Amino acid sequence: MSDVGSEQNPVRAAIVGSGPSGFYALEALIRSEPAVLVDMFERLPSPFGLVRSGVAPDHPKLKKPIGVYQKLAGAPEFRFFGNVNVGRDVSVEELRNCYHAVVFACGAETDRKLGIPGEHLPGSHAATELVGWYNGHPDYRDLEFDLSHDTAVIIGQGNVAVDVCRILAKTVDELKHSDIAKHALEALAQSKVCNIHMIGRRGPAQAKFTHQELREFGELTECEPVVNPKDLELNETSREELADRNNRANLKSFEVLQSFAARPPPASRRRCRFHFLKSPLELKGEHRVERMVLARNLLEGKPSQQFARATEELEELTCGLVFRSIGYRGMPIPGVPFDEGRGVFPNRDGRIIDGESAVPGLYATGWIKRGPTGIIGTNRADSVATVKALLEDLPNFGATQKPGADGLKSFFEYRGVRVVSYEDWQKIDSAEIRRGQAAGKPREKFTRVEEMLSVLDEVK
Ligand SMILES: Cc1cc2nc3c(=O)[nH]c(=O)nc-3n(C[C@H](O)[C@H](O)[C@H](O)COP(=O)(O)OP(=O)(O)OC[C@H]3O[C@@H](n4cnc5c(N)ncnc54)[C@H](O)[C@@H]3O)c2cc1C
Ligand SMILES: NC(=O)c1ccc[n+]([C@@H]2O[C@H](COP(=O)([O-])OP(=O)(O)OC[C@H]3O[C@@H](n4cnc5c(N)ncnc54)[C@H](OP(=O)(O)O)[C@@H]3O)[C@@H](O)[C@H]2O)c1
Repeated sequence: MSDVGSEQNPVRAAIVGSGPSGFYALEALIRSEPAVLVDMFERLPSPFGLVRSGVAPDHPKLKKPIGVYQKLAGAPEFRFFGNVNVGRDVSVEELRNCYHAVVFACGAETDRKLGIPGEHLPGSHAATELVGWYNGHPDYRDLEFDLSHDTAVIIGQGNVAVDVCRILAKTVDELKHSDIAKHALEALAQSKVCNIHMIGRRGPAQAKFTHQELREFGELTECEPVVNPKDLELNETSREELADRNNRANLKSFEVLQSFAARPPPASRRRCRFHFLKSPLELKGEHRVERMVLARNLLEGKPSQQFARATEELEELTCGLVFRSIGYRGMPIPGVPFDEGRGVFPNRDGRIIDGESAVPGLYATGWIKRGPTGIIGTNRADSVATVKALLEDLPNFGATQKPGADGLKSFFEYRGVRVVSYEDWQKIDSAEIRRGQAAGKPREKFTRVEEMLSVLDEVK
């Protein structure tokens, strides 16, 4: 029998997840020298992961990589199996029996917790939930956010926190021509939120948001940014950090904050206030969130390694809504080792490991490999590195032949899994675009799995 990777015996690879890292793994595989056949499994009927359901609806340019993924999906070596949840509809063991290699590109789908008293009071949410809700992710379709309160507090100063604040800050007119989910636009139209507070535990020189995203707060129709000039007084180490040429991005953000601090008092209906060196200690309220207790922090440590230490100085902030935006977190899949501490699949160069040994045929890429940081493009190099490791392991696969998804058909039938092909997805995609046209939106997303599947029944 021919070796794996020959025309007669192509490498059979399964990719779990259809976000950026999954598509970049596909790209690296089909561009490689050995012959490959790639099947991609996605738990939703719709592909593209966080580019569809994370990237903010009012940032359409940042969704452009979808065009690249659509081209890749046209490759003859590729098949899409949407609406298939790996770990539930098909086990990892079954995939291992049918493929030489399984590449997990399943992202980081849950959120990190603050671990403070009151965190679970009604009115306290994860940013993950709001993001999924306004982007029409079916998992978050039925959530409700009580936007009748005037004050919302967002914990964290990364770009997700910026997205959440901006969506709460924008008017309906600023959002209505985006692909924001209809139910979210309707709820936001009634929003009474006018005081938005973004809280950072470290200082203005360490904030993780980027200056382009920050600058937008100076350009909104009905919301103005507020920064207390005193909050921009830096300690010696932070001044050293900003003077470092490798830290130009933070310097640019700091300059934007300086420009906000120099603005006259806000006259708009809404304001977004940026706080620094504060950590939430407790959420208080009788039946729901009413107040947040914050500790004032000091920075300690060497340049670029400064961390926040709470002081005895406390303050209370009255609020009706809290969103923690302190990072996403990967979820385990039965049959794959999981690092509970970091929320990733433990791996060496993309090879999934159990203790010290690599698990034959299992690989990871993207957020489930390295943790929930990095922009869309970061996942490309990551997937190239994982596929390189996979191809180095080719001699270990010997001459075994694997059936790919043909070996899974009977399981899908037996379990009543309705598989959505890429052609099926294209029909759903066209229907969403048609629905959007009437409202002047790029698309009106289906926000329930059943709605997507019913499109396929209609066009049969
Ligand atoms: C709110 C938010 C906004 C962002 N905005 C930007 C931006 O504007 N610009 C930018 O460059 N980057 C942005 N990013 C970062 C970017 O989205 C990530 O770098 C990227 O999506 C990570 O890719 P991934 O493939 O690892 O994970 P994901 O994109 O999360 O894809 C994982 C896929 O796996 C699927 N999956 C999960 N479990 C299973 C399973 N068991 N079986 C089958 N399928 C499964 C999921 O449904 C999903 O489709 C943003 C991130 C967030 C959270
Ligand atoms: N437009 C875009 O390009 C875009 C949009 C959205 C997301 N993204 C990318 O997606 C990735 C994820 O973004 P993210 O915002 O979720 O993560 P992030 O950039 O890592 O930011 C997390 C924030 O949470 C804070 N934090 C963490 N633990 C905390 C705690 N216990 N208490 C208080 N604060 C805490 C962090 O503070 P410390 O700094 O002190 O740790 C930081 O401010 C990032 O790489 C981001 O750039 C990009």
